[in-house]
Amino acid sequence: MNRRDFIIGSLLALGGTPLLASCKEKKQTEKTTATDQKGEAKMKVLMINGSAHEKGCTYTALSTVAAALQEEGIDSEIVQLGGEPYRDCIGCRACRKLGKCVFDDDIVNKLVEKAKSADGFIFGTPVYYSHPSGRLLSVLDRAFYSGGAAFAYKPAAAVASARRAGTIASIDVINKHFTINNMPVISSTYWNEVHGNTPEDVLQDKEGLQTMRNLGKNMAWALKLIDEGKKLDIAAPVPESGARTDFIR
Ligand SMILES: Cc1cc2nc3c(=O)[nH]c(=O)nc-3n(C[C@H](O)[C@H](O)[C@H](O)COP(=O)(O)O)c2cc1C
Repeated sequence: MNRRDFIIGSLLALGGTPLLASCKEKKQTEKTTATDQKGEAKMKVLMINGSAHEKGCTYTALSTVAAALQEEGIDSEIVQLGGEPYRDCIGCRACRKLGKCVFDDDIVNKLVEKAKSADGFIFGTPVYYSHPSGRLLSVLDRAFYSGGAAFAYKPAAAVASARRAGTIASIDVINKHFTINNMPVISSTYWNEVHGNTPEDVLQDKEGLQTMRNLGKNMAWALKLIDEGKKLDIAAPVPESGARTDFIR
């Protein structure tokens, strides 16, 4: 059995049946669609794989969350950042006038458009020197600075994959995007981390995978509560604004 077949077989054993079809194709996004008996539009979680490894350790963690979400009737989509270079935010503030990032030639503006119709988010990263991947941070900085409203008041979680250490620091960095943007942060039964250098390693991290499944369940629970709240006219609060004091004044 080669490495790819081993991964697919193991994911199937974990309950990720729809992933089989998507593993056969090479594409930048991968959708897991839950069917609804009533034919109603399903809620959807948008995920980003911040690794250049399309089917690596981070993907293995995210697809485990996707399978748990699907069991709860929630759709998901994994957007792959891949090995492309991504520009960092240059602080030009052109987005204040344009309503989108001035660099329109990569995934960032498309991601913000996708975020508008998503109900929740999970951002996954490999750990590099105890921090998230630079590509994920470049994308998140630009997406949140130019299009933060698309993410606001929607639940989110950060997931990190490491061979050994640096997950907590990495998760903390990603969480900062949520906690400055009115986003509820979803937790699990452990911090959202898996361990391994290869997907096969991650599949042996039983507690890590359990944490991912519980994260999926908790995300689904939060989404359903928010959805029920909307039906009861419990809308997101309108924040107070106006005060913006820099520390030098
Ligand atoms: C540049 C670089 C730096 C890394 N730094 C760390 C680190 O600080 N701690 C760690 O445990 N693993 C580190 N690793 C290993 C990866 O985090 C680990 O293999 C991860 O699970 C790979 O996920 P992926 O397959 O989704 O890319 C590093 C890998 C690279 C390429």
